[in-house]
Amino acid sequence: MEALVAAHSGIRWLVIVGLLVVLLWAFAGKQRHQPTWVRIVGGLFSLQVLLGIVLYVINEGWSQGGFIAIWHPIGMIAALAAFQIGTGRSRSESNPRMLGIATLISIVLVLAAVPWPRGMM
Ligand code: HEM
Repeated sequence: MEALVAAHSGIRWLVIVGLLVVLLWAFAGKQRHQPTWVRIVGGLFSLQVLLGIVLYVINEGWSQGGFIAIWHPIGMIAALAAFQIGTGRSRSESNPRMLGIATLISIVLVLAAVPWPRGMM
């Protein structure tokens, strides 16, 4: 299952960079209509959470100490919820500022819930 952990670890960077790009786009405020690529970032984020849930079951995440057992999954699921609610509402209301605020909350949660001491790769 090392390959799955490596994939989960690597995809973190795509999610973080994707969220940062959405944040910059949203606060630049040049366009009200939400571009399609925002959905791609949401899909990647969902995939990462799904992969995390699979790893949690296979590698018995509950037995890996408090951070991985509790805070990591709760923080990441909350981060995904904030992003998905933000993209959905800002799309229907054509309000990029709302997307910016939701993405900011999401990035803060992701950065706080990544187990950084496990490495950067
Ligand atoms: C965007 C969301 C997520 C990001 C960015 C993320 C990131 C990471 C990173 C960087 C690691 C360390 C990997 C390593 O040791 O090299 C990790 C490990 C882990 N993550 Fe996540 N994760 C996310 C979501 C989740 C979720 C939602 C769950 C569970 C419900 C989860 C479960 C786990 C488990 C169990 C491990 C330990 C794997 C092992 O070494 O056995 N992750 N995660």
